[in-house]
Amino acid sequence: MSVLCVFVSLWFVEQCANNSVPLLKSGIARARHAEVVGRIMIFMNEPILQVEHLSKSFGGIQAVRDCSFDVYEGSITGLIGPNGAGKTTLFNLITGFLQPDSGRVFYRKKDITGLEPFEIFRQGIFRSFQITREYKEMTVLENLLLIPEKQIGEILWNAWLQRKAIQAQEARNIEKALEILRFLGMESKKDLPAKHLPGGEKKLLEIGRMMMVDLDLILLDEPGAGVPPGLQQKVLNYIKTLAQEHGHTLLMVEHDMDVIMNICDRIIVTCDGTFLTEGTPDEIRSNPAVIEAYLGTPYEANE
Ligand SMILES: Nc1ncnc2c1ncn2[C@@H]1O[C@H](COP(=O)(O)OP(=O)(O)OP(=O)(O)O)[C@@H](O)[C@H]1O
Ligand SMILES: [Mg+2]
Repeated sequence: MSVLCVFVSLWFVEQCANNSVPLLKSGIARARHAEVVGRIMIFMNEPILQVEHLSKSFGGIQAVRDCSFDVYEGSITGLIGPNGAGKTTLFNLITGFLQPDSGRVFYRKKDITGLEPFEIFRQGIFRSFQITREYKEMTVLENLLLIPEKQIGEILWNAWLQRKAIQAQEARNIEKALEILRFLGMESKKDLPAKHLPGGEKKLLEIGRMMMVDLDLILLDEPGAGVPPGLQQKVLNYIKTLAQEHGHTLLMVEHDMDVIMNICDRIIVTCDGTFLTEGTPDEIRSNPAVIEAYLGTPYEANE
């Protein structure tokens, strides 16, 4: 039945785009066409990440409680919930920074529960931190250059045997890092020790680290917090493009509802350490359970 609905929706969108439905003849409607088709298609994709019955306690505090949800490949999924709902703990459990008391995490159907963070990174999963974790004494540029894996110069004897290859690879990485810093408006800070960056720019540095590697699944914990509004929009547009054009999947924690409602295809709501509900932004904004647990009032966009 749901497959039939998906095909009827796709047919309708195609008809709109072909101007056979007068309601959607405008240019704006045509521009939205690709996005709408993309969003419908996402729900036909396989889950890339499956969280099954995760639980985690810290002493007497049950931070995550029998929590289960799926994230679909190619989606931009929002993870929202009140302060202390267990969102950051969930990220830590998924990416190996914490071990669950019970439950499992599957990435592309492979059980990754209990793997070390570096092993999970190698699978293609990147996460940013709510409280940034830059290498404080290293410069901004060095913080970016650390990220790419398989650097030839990491093997000692290559310093003699593959000198030219090392130099060429380093030059490529530096060029890419400088390009990223230019994009983020931080090129002038490239030689500054990262500890001297203001909070918003430390957040941007996390985004920059993400941009240094080709990723499959990206988990972002409040990427916009502390970033100046103009730049926040630029970064979020970049994130959206990553998912839409390059097929990366994003799971994003954010308290800014304008960001979540505008950027996400799907939203998962957590409360008291567990899954509360999920749906499209339209479904979530007026869901009585979400209003009671988190939003307070039905969400209305800020014009
Ligand atoms: N390392 C820890 N030791 C003890 N308690 C912890 C630890 N980490 C998290 N907690 C507690 O677990 C609960 C969930 O915290 P978590 O940081 O996961 O929530 P959150 O949803 O990310 O909140 P926020 O929206 O404020 O970032 C909170 O009560 C928090 O105080
Ligand atoms: Mg958090």
